[in-house]
Amino acid sequence: MNEQISTIKLEYLGKIKAATSLAELDQIYLALFGKAGIITLLPKEFPKMEKAQLASIVPAFNQLKIDLNSAVESKRSEVREMSYASLSQESVDLSTPITLPLRTGYHHPLMVFEEEIKELFKKIGFQQFGAPNIDTDYYNFEVLNIPAEHPARDLWDTLYIDKSGLKERNENWILRTHTSNAQVRIMKQYKTPVRMMVIDRCFRYENLDARHEHTFDQFELVFVDKGLSMAHLQWLSEYFLKHFLGEETKVRLRPKYYPFVEPGVGIDGTCLFCKGKGCKICGGIGWLELGGAGMIHPSVLKNGGIDPKEYSGIAWGPGLERILMLKLGVEDLRVFRNGDIKFIQEKGVPAS
Ligand code: PHE
Repeated sequence: MNEQISTIKLEYLGKIKAATSLAELDQIYLALFGKAGIITLLPKEFPKMEKAQLASIVPAFNQLKIDLNSAVESKRSEVREMSYASLSQESVDLSTPITLPLRTGYHHPLMVFEEEIKELFKKIGFQQFGAPNIDTDYYNFEVLNIPAEHPARDLWDTLYIDKSGLKERNENWILRTHTSNAQVRIMKQYKTPVRMMVIDRCFRYENLDARHEHTFDQFELVFVDKGLSMAHLQWLSEYFLKHFLGEETKVRLRPKYYPFVEPGVGIDGTCLFCKGKGCKICGGIGWLELGGAGMIHPSVLKNGGIDPKEYSGIAWGPGLERILMLKLGVEDLRVFRNGDIKFIQEKGVPAS
C-alpha cells in the first residue's frame, strides 16, 4: 500500500505540473477526489489491513491527500496568473470597423401582395383611395342601405367606440367593418366615370380561429360608368384571381345578399388544393368563397350624388388574407399578424 501511495503521488504530481488549463486541472481533481476518485476509494481498503500496517499507511495517505490538494490549488492560481498576464498583453481597438454580415429585413407577404394588386389594377385605370379606419356609423352602414336597428347590421360584428370620452357625441363611431365605407365618399368626391380602389385594414368582433381574425385587409373596387353589367364584374373577378392563383382558376358568381348591391354575389374561385374536385379545405365542394361584390344599389348611387338612370356601378370587395392563404399554401390566417419572424422570412421578400 505504501508503494501504491508513492506511485499515485509521483504520477499525479507530474500530471498536475504538466496541466496548462483550469479545465484540465478540474479533470485531475475529479479523478482524485471525485465520487469514484482514487483518493476517495483508497480508504475502502483499510478495514482489510492489519493494525500495524495501518499505523504507517494512514499518515502517509493523509499526507498524500494534503500534497495533491495543495498541488492542484497552487497550479490553479499559477494558471490563472498566466492567463491574466497574457490578457494584459492583448489589446482591442474599439475603433476598428466590424465586418459582421448585415441582416436584411423582409417585406411582409401581405404587403408584397397588396403592392402587386395595386400595380395590376393601376394598369386598367384604377386609382387608389383612402378612407378612415375609425369611421362613423353613417358611412360604414347608413349610406349603404343599412339603417340603425336594421337586421342587416347583424351581418357585421362591429366594434363600437366608447363615446363617453369624445367631444363630438352626435355621431356613432366604429372601427370600420369593411372598405365599403369608401363607396359613397368616392362617389361624392369624384366625377363620373369612377375607377377607384381601396386596400386597407378592417376590424370585426370575431371569435378567432384559422379563418377569422379581428383585424384583416380588404380590397375594394368602385367602378361607375355608363352601361356596366355583371359581365364586367365576372371579367374583373377573373382578371384578379387568374393573375394570382393561376390561369387554370375558374371563377363563379353565386347569388348573395349585401344590402348595398343589387344583384349581390359571392365570388368563388376553384379550390387550389384539390383543383375543384372537393377536399377538406373547401369542405368537399371544390370552390372557395373569396369575397363579395355586386352592382351598386340605385339608392347608394343616389347617396353618392349619381343618377342611377344614367350610370351603373360595380362594387367588389374580397378579403385579402384568405386569398393569400391559398396562394402561399397557409392553413391558418393568424400567421399574418402574429409577428412570427420566421414566417415573414420564409414567405416575404428580402428588402434590398
Ligand atoms: N363589404 C362586404 C363585406 O365586407 C363585401 C362587399 C363589397 C360586398 C362590395 C359587395 C360589394 O362583407
